[in-house]
Amino acid sequence: MLAILHFLHIASGIVWAGGALFFVLVVEPTLFRLGPGATRDTLRAAQPFLGRLMGASGLILLTTGGALPAASGAITSPGDLLRPYSVYVLAALALVVGLAAQSGRYRAVMQRMLSATAEVTPAMHAARQRQAVVTVAAISATIVIMAILGMGLY
Ligand code: HEM
Repeated sequence: MLAILHFLHIASGIVWAGGALFFVLVVEPTLFRLGPGATRDTLRAAQPFLGRLMGASGLILLTTGGALPAASGAITSPGDLLRPYSVYVLAALALVVGLAAQSGRYRAVMQRMLSATAEVTPAMHAARQRQAVVTVAAISATIVIMAILGMGLY
């Protein structure tokens, strides 16, 4: 059971984190070069696929991340939540949930900006770059936490 949870957690983490990084570092910058019309249309058309992939992998990632400490016996009572191990797990949870929520807000704002203009403005470039930095930072921090947990450095 623990092995299956580990496998699902790592596989979904690779898909979720890889998908988010690929999107902000490759797909979005490429679309911006093609202009607001192409960006808006492509993002709208891709939304159902993106939503399914990121939604499903994110859900599996968070569920298995929450189930692993219970299954391994690392967190069995509320008192365990104060231990460094639990603080790392909660920090990872906050980073991933926070990034998902913040990305949703960013996408809504960007869709509005794309609908309102005929060219990519400096404000849109700045927002896109900020989003890329936030995404890389949050995912890097989560991976560092996972390395700490995986190597038992707590
Ligand atoms: C970017 C997203 C994430 C990736 C790529 C990722 C990846 C990993 C990897 C590679 C391991 C090490 C497995 C091992 O060697 O034992 C791990 C362990 C773990 N992860 Fe994540 N993870 C992510 C997000 C999360 C989140 C959000 C949570 C909390 C809800 C979480 C909770 C855990 C727990 C509890 C363990 C087991 C640590 C242990 O007791 O050995 N992970 N994760």
